[in-house]
Parts: sequence; C-alpha cells; structure tokens
Amino acid sequence: MGQKPHEEKTCHGVRFYQSRHTQIRQLKRLHSPLEFGHRVWSSCWLLMDYLKTLRAPPGLKVMEVGCGWGLAGIFCAKNLQASVTCVDADPEVFPFLQLHAELNQVQIATLSKRYEDLTSQDLDGIKLLIGADICFWDEMPGQLIPLIDQALASRVPLILIADPGRSSFAKLTEYCEAKYGASAFTLSVRKPIPFSGRILKISNLAAI
Ligand SMILES: C[S@@+](CC[C@H](N)C(=O)[O-])C[C@H]1O[C@@H](n2cnc3c(N)ncnc32)[C@H](O)[C@@H]1O
Repeated sequence: MGQKPHEEKTCHGVRFYQSRHTQIRQLKRLHSPLEFGHRVWSSCWLLMDYLKTLRAPPGLKVMEVGCGWGLAGIFCAKNLQASVTCVDADPEVFPFLQLHAELNQVQIATLSKRYEDLTSQDLDGIKLLIGADICFWDEMPGQLIPLIDQALASRVPLILIADPGRSSFAKLTEYCEAKYGASAFTLSVRKPIPFSGRILKISNLAAI
C-alpha cells in the first residue's frame, strides 16, 4: 500500500502502520494471519468514507466482521464514539488489530468466530454491522447470507459491506437486492490511495 511502506499514515482520522513499518514487521515474526488478514484492504476506506456521510448518532454498538486489522471498526470507535466488537475467524489478526487500537487510543472487543456461526446473542443490541472485503471467494455468499439472515432476525437496523467489486460480491448483492430490498452503489476515494468499489447497504426497516 502507498509508496513508502515503512511509514505510519493517517486517513479519516485513523492512524495506521504500513506493511513494512518496524512494528508490523516485528508482529509478523510472531503471528501469521492465514486468510488475507496480513494487511489492510482498500475497501475499508470506502466504508469509512460512506460512514462519514451517515451522521450516525454517537455511542452506537457496532460489529465489524472479517475485521482483519480492524481499521473500519477503529474508525467507528474513534469518530462515532461507538462501542465496537471486531470479529474474525482467524485470531492471528488480533495482535495487529490491538496494535492499531492502541495507536488510535481506543478500546476494541474481539471475538474469534466465523460469519456463519454468529448467534443472536452475539448480535444482540448491534445497531450497525459492517464488513470490508469479506466476500472474496465463490463460496462466501453462502457464508454471509446466514449471517445477514441472523442479523436481520436480531433486529440489526443497518448492514454495510464494501468490496472492490468481485463476482462473488455481485452474487451476494443480487441475492440481497431480491430478498431484502437492499441497494448497492459505487463509491470512489482518493486517499490514502485512489480506489473505487461497491457498497452493499441492507436496511432493516422492521428495526428502525
Ligand atoms: C481480505 S481480508 C479483509 C480484512 C479487513 N476487513 C480489511 O478491510 O482490511 C478478509 C478477512 O476475513 C476473515 N475471514 C475470512 N473468512 C471468514 C469467515 N468465514 N468468518 C470470519 N472471518 C473470515 C479473514 O481472516 C481476513 O481477516
């Protein structure tokens, strides 16, 4: 990411280390995320850019799934004073997340669970469910649909999923538009790198 991968950067008020920063290199000697949780993925910046326009009330309970280093969740804790739980199947991502939580001086709760295993208890009181670049393989719509069903049944009012525009995400979008009346739109950001992608927005009218 970026042209100076040894640096620390700030975007949307979130401070983050780039892939070759000393702190990251030290952690990588001890922890090895497996399923693409070894870096920050650009879709999270789309999510932050969109979240800024929502004018969400402070203090929401937010869950980020497939969080990796958790920058979107950290954004919510820092900018929306949200109480945030970051969820990932791979616990090896959490040391990277906690490093960034400390850097940004926020507290983030973590939970190691797969999307499809999250229960109504896990989702109790969540007002915003977010995910960035979490639908990257063909089988992933089949893992995310049970989560979306569970979240809607648990009265989560808003679900936002950002993606670079993969075919697996298009399949998920198509399903959600037909089944839940969801919408999807294209968004572009210029910082920290120029990037375009899609956001899937599922509003739970029964819970609003
Ligand atoms: C491409 S990374 C995106 C990380 C982060 N959201 C970001 O934007 O930088 C995908 C993340 O999803 C996690 N993941 C993959 N399959 C999962 C599943 N079934 N349940 C929960 N997390 C999963 C991986 O461990 C990885 O951290």
